[in-house]
Amino acid sequence: MKIVVIGGTGLIGTRLVRQLVARGHQAVAASPNTGVNTLTGEGLADALAGAQVVVDVANSPSFEDRAVLDFFETSGRNLLAAEAAAGVKHLVALSVVGTERLQGSGYFRAKLAQEKLIQAGAIPYTIVRATQFIDFLGGIAQSATEGQTVRLSPALVQPIASDDVASAMADAALGAPLQGMREIAGPERIGLAALVQRYLSAIGDPRTVVADAKALYFGVPLDDRSLTPDDDAQLGTIGFEAWLAAR
Ligand SMILES: NC(=O)c1ccc[n+]([C@@H]2O[C@H](COP(=O)([O-])OP(=O)(O)OC[C@H]3O[C@@H](n4cnc5c(N)ncnc54)[C@H](OP(=O)(O)O)[C@@H]3O)[C@@H](O)[C@H]2O)c1
Repeated sequence: MKIVVIGGTGLIGTRLVRQLVARGHQAVAASPNTGVNTLTGEGLADALAGAQVVVDVANSPSFEDRAVLDFFETSGRNLLAAEAAAGVKHLVALSVVGTERLQGSGYFRAKLAQEKLIQAGAIPYTIVRATQFIDFLGGIAQSATEGQTVRLSPALVQPIASDDVASAMADAALGAPLQGMREIAGPERIGLAALVQRYLSAIGDPRTVVADAKALYFGVPLDDRSLTPDDDAQLGTIGFEAWLAAR
């Protein structure tokens, strides 16, 4: 089966393409680096020709409020139109657990807009919402750094390894459209500040994490429910220590 992976050159996309090929499918990585741009539409019709499934794991190059909203809205519309023209039977998209609880952030407003376009569109779909990628802990630390201090909320998180995300996306792509959402998460719950401190210590980064219940996460205050999934989330198998050991 031909499966087009939009954002197939990214963190999740690279792993997803590899997994789909290993499972015997023709997986095509589509992104600006391979001549496909969902914002402008460049290369999209050619890439989607003959595809039965499209998986969208692209991300906006800019997280600035207006830019990220434009990215997910414009790309989402272009993609739905190209999928309809190509006769695509299933669209699988990657979003974030708790998106509707994080609407103080421009990034999460853009993710909600992306989800709504897909839900209102004509292509049968599955939305997979993942928790924070363990691979993204460095990015979270960076976003919360002031000098040598990283100020983060102690709220609970349940981070997932990118290989587990890719497996779940491959499963979704090879399954029937849910016309709904599925949540995926890692196997362990831990406070965000404590986890990032463990990560920084493990890689020999001298920054110190200060746990501050008022610290904002990409502009949003957190509590223990903000980033954690529902009880029926599908769990990955790779915890933080295993991820670190494999790194
Ligand atoms: N970070 C987290 O903790 C987290 C948690 C849950 C869900 N998510 C979601 O996971 C998804 C993937 O994240 P990621 O970290 O794998 O992303 P990433 O590594 O930053 O990769 C982004 C991908 O998007 C592609 N892209 C950028 N502009 C494009 C355009 N105009 N047209 C087509 N493709 C374009 C890039 O292509 P080039 O390589 O060619 O530039 C790249 O392949 C995102 O939707 C994000 O919301 C993230």
